[in-house]
Amino acid sequence: MLEAKAKHMKFFVDTAEIAEIRELAALGLVDGVTTNPSLIRKSGRDFLEVLREICEVTPGPVSAEVVALEAEQMIAEGRKLAEVAPNIAIKVPLTWDGLRACRVLTEEGRMVNVTLCFSANQALLAAKAGATFVSPFIGRLDDINLDGMELIRDIRTIFDNYDFGTEILAASIRTPNHITQSALAGADIATAPTKVLQALAAHPLTDRGLEAFLKDWQATGQRIV
Ligand code: E4P
Repeated sequence: MLEAKAKHMKFFVDTAEIAEIRELAALGLVDGVTTNPSLIRKSGRDFLEVLREICEVTPGPVSAEVVALEAEQMIAEGRKLAEVAPNIAIKVPLTWDGLRACRVLTEEGRMVNVTLCFSANQALLAAKAGATFVSPFIGRLDDINLDGMELIRDIRTIFDNYDFGTEILAASIRTPNHITQSALAGADIATAPTKVLQALAAHPLTDRGLEAFLKDWQATGQRIV
């Protein structure tokens, strides 16, 4: 199932910590959630149980990753994960089997997030397989001295050249600057850990300005309430 193209940039939070999701959701900052097996391990929680809780507090798609390597098993795992809630997006790896599973699951009307994307050609294949989302991993490319943002720009150009409906979900975001650059490059969605989303609000001049305003306000001796 392809969603309509985003008219605004969406924020997904990359975590399986329910308290973090609740706090961000209260600010209206959570358009969706992404999880992966490493985040589930870190949470120490039962996979299906934590997914159920995340889906209850998340208005948008919640990515849940299969762990099988072979298409038929991925499809079976994907169907089971999708039973948790209607907003589950089944995450499959960008392998040949993952693409086969993507095609079958999307034809069943399910949302599919094709993950571990590291090249424009891989993204093109995900779009051809009908993926709802493709997840290029920016940080992991930067880690090996390549340019993750260049990949986002290339995928944006290719998808727009042909009007592919697959949404670009910029993933493996490590810094606030990754978010700015993803927005400039036209990514439909950025998924980031809570601490990166919180860091978007921080600026030393805001802190300094606030301190000066409060000092002057105290000198007036007035109160608002
Ligand atoms: C996205 O879906 C992944 O869960 C995540 O962004 C990976 O980030 P990392 O490379 O920082 O582990």
